[in-house]
Amino acid sequence: MTRIYEPFGGPTQPDLRTKAYFRTTLTAPAEPLIALPRTVTETSGPVFGDQDLCGVGVDISNNNTVLGSLMVLAGQVLDEDGRPVPNALVEVWQANASGKYPHEVDSRPAPQDPNFTGAARLLTDAEGRYKITTIRPGAYPVPNTGNWWRPPHIHFSLYGDAFASRLITQMFFPGDPLNDLDGILQAIPDADARNRLIAKPDSSLDIHEHALGFRFDIVLRGRNETPMVD
Ligand SMILES: [Fe+2]
Repeated sequence: MTRIYEPFGGPTQPDLRTKAYFRTTLTAPAEPLIALPRTVTETSGPVFGDQDLCGVGVDISNNNTVLGSLMVLAGQVLDEDGRPVPNALVEVWQANASGKYPHEVDSRPAPQDPNFTGAARLLTDAEGRYKITTIRPGAYPVPNTGNWWRPPHIHFSLYGDAFASRLITQMFFPGDPLNDLDGILQAIPDADARNRLIAKPDSSLDIHEHALGFRFDIVLRGRNETPMVD
């Protein structure tokens, strides 16, 4: 079946340039976008296999030695028709419980956790499902912004059944007071679309007296598309 990979924009996607997120004044295109023709390269690949995965597993709690509240995060990757996307490459990265990334660029004087890699990479199963055991990340301040604190969030990168369905986004936690103040989440004008970025508590994923469960489904394209958030 031939798919037409038209972008779906409007108020369900973040404003490319928003005062609340100063960096977009530098990164947003100054000229109108140019539509490039899709070739077979963009619409038929990539195809991943187990051998493509490196050693970052789906349990990044490192045998429960990571500091913070343990959580199980799971969901399904879906296409524009609500069908599961198997073998989608899902990559996540996140700050540790003190809101610090295990990366040299994060120079904020907050505690590093030597047991935490902060990243996972996996392929969805035949039903498009993924599952990650991790910790709830902490909030962190964005430098030079007048004390804007990012709410706890987890970054996602997905490759679906085609390069044209590449999605980069962030997942947030329900009820966090920083969500309403976040320049990135609030750059999405449509409230329903913002809501698609907020995970749902899911007791079926809980590990009794050990970890809280959250569900975060991701729609790669179409009317119900998960907003693209850099
Ligand atoms: Fe972040």
